[in-house]
Amino acid sequence: MIDALYDLLAKIGYTHPLHPPFTHGPIGALIVAFCLGLAGWILRRHVLLLSAYYAVIMAFVLLFPTVAAGIIDWQYYYSGAWINPIRMKIGLAILLLILLSITLIAGRRSTVRPFSMVLLFTLCLVNGISLGYFGGQLVYEGRLPTVSDELLPGRRIFINHCSGCHANGGNIFYPNLPLRSAPQLESYETFIEFVRNPRLPDGSKGPMPAFTTSRLTDQQARELYNYILVGLAKPVRSGN
Ligand code: HEC
Repeated sequence: MIDALYDLLAKIGYTHPLHPPFTHGPIGALIVAFCLGLAGWILRRHVLLLSAYYAVIMAFVLLFPTVAAGIIDWQYYYSGAWINPIRMKIGLAILLLILLSITLIAGRRSTVRPFSMVLLFTLCLVNGISLGYFGGQLVYEGRLPTVSDELLPGRRIFINHCSGCHANGGNIFYPNLPLRSAPQLESYETFIEFVRNPRLPDGSKGPMPAFTTSRLTDQQARELYNYILVGLAKPVRSGN
């Protein structure tokens, strides 16, 4: 049933997970609720607080398709495995449902204080952002091997500067030029020369940005190089 849905989507050219585009709905509504609520409280404008309340209704309604898309993505792409970020996401989604319900019930009372409402809008937003954080954890961390502690600084530099285009040591622009087996990794000197002034094999300028010393210091480049060499070429399994 789920396979049939993704097959159908693939036929029209959609081959990505479904959950990420849906998340913009509730997160957008939570941001709107927070901003309007805060403005309503500071400016003492009831109409703004009322608008924030309507945004929470939107977040509540949109939460359901978003969670449903998340569950079927989880079944399809992760075979329903109970990995840590998924546990966190499920727990946080339940908490968000509870928080949104409390906000909706509290907002209907005429005696509720504007400050209490702003507090609830803030809690809902923080919850939504945390959900996004664990989503990022799933997408980016999952693509990288775990390494020993001394390689963690290099791994962080890799996540910040390189993993977008070289996830898992590959190359999203030129799959035939994966970082994992690049000739530039032969020595630190050839590596740093390339990173400071990247070129395609024919010598022309390609899509890879040049990393100057202000973006990547020599020391960071060394840590990065060690991580790529040890971490990506020979992944160390955690728990060994
Ligand atoms: C915006 C995407 C992008 C980012 C970010 C990026 N690269 Fe690249 N990388 C490429 C592309 C595209 C190529 C092919 C050569 C080119 O474009 O100059 C490449 C090529 C390489 C190669 C040579 C691969 C081969 O097999 O010939 C190395 C080594 C490399 N990148 C290292 C890095 C490192 C280290 C970082 C992070 C500091 C990084 N890249 C960040 C896109 C990127």
